[in-house]
Amino acid sequence: MRAAALPRRRCLQALALGALPAPGAAPAQAQVTIRLSHVVARQTPKGLALERFSERVQALSQGRIQVVIYPNSVLYGDADEIQALQLGAVDMLAPSLSKFGRIGFPEFELFDLPFLFDSKEQVHRVMRSAIGKELLAALERQRMVGLGYLDNGFKHMSANRPLLAPQDFVGLRMRIQSSRVIAHQMRALGAKPVVLGFGETRRALATGVVDGTENPVSNLWTQRMHEVQTDLSLTRHGYLGYCVVVNQRFWNHLRPGDRTLVRQAMAEALDWGNTIAQYENDEALAHLRLGGGTRIHVPSDDQRQRLRQATQEVALGLQGRIGRQWIDRVHAVLAAA
Ligand code: LMR
Repeated sequence: MRAAALPRRRCLQALALGALPAPGAAPAQAQVTIRLSHVVARQTPKGLALERFSERVQALSQGRIQVVIYPNSVLYGDADEIQALQLGAVDMLAPSLSKFGRIGFPEFELFDLPFLFDSKEQVHRVMRSAIGKELLAALERQRMVGLGYLDNGFKHMSANRPLLAPQDFVGLRMRIQSSRVIAHQMRALGAKPVVLGFGETRRALATGVVDGTENPVSNLWTQRMHEVQTDLSLTRHGYLGYCVVVNQRFWNHLRPGDRTLVRQAMAEALDWGNTIAQYENDEALAHLRLGGGTRIHVPSDDQRQRLRQATQEVALGLQGRIGRQWIDRVHAVLAAA
């Protein structure tokens, strides 16, 4: 818990106005500030859900707990945000699930497996199962507390050509997140994966450092990546979601009542975020269609089937990294429907 330090002059003013407790009075509960950094724009499922969290925390604590949000990589980007959290330079993050493999949680990369999930309902079943709970609990290994999951949506492929069949990918440099599963997926399609921070992606596309990328439409649209990509192929080949994490030391210093309050505000915000995520992606696609500058391609069932076949080897090739038992358990949850 971080009590906001009042400058001496403001303390004196407050005393004069009677705003500070008189000596001997029961101490007021301390102010708490939660510093929250993320890499996407405000008008995205994650940006909006985290704003909702801030509003809910403030309302439930009657203004005593404040959240300061640093969006769009303005404070930390992909390269340094997790380190910033672990050092206590920020208190809370919501990285994509794809970014946990790099810091010692390769099992999180199971969510990146191409064509594993047909719907968000299936993803949610896994998240609500013992698998989702165990993944959150595992974060303690790196002194983080996992507060929950949030959807963005299904990813699509963009480049300066349609990407509808494996041969369309051959030779392309595709920007990816730092996930070995996604790297393997791009290689299986014949492309060269290039790991880059989200905040650097638009410029890399504009300058030809990379040729294409994958993301849900809300991320493509709000970063204006469509201005530097002529074609968007609605491949829906993989899921993108997030995990909210808090610095463990910060968490342990909160009063138990505040931890309950923060958990409640976050649970409400994540539930709400999941209800608007699809809308935000649909809106972004509608804007793209209206703009007319980007060609939008919908693969046929047959084309999707061929992409699926081309990437089938990914789960097999990376079961050693993710852990065979995790993949089997996910299949068991999905089959139990
Ligand atoms: C990306 O890096 O491509 C995205 O996962 C960014 C995000 O947080 O949505």
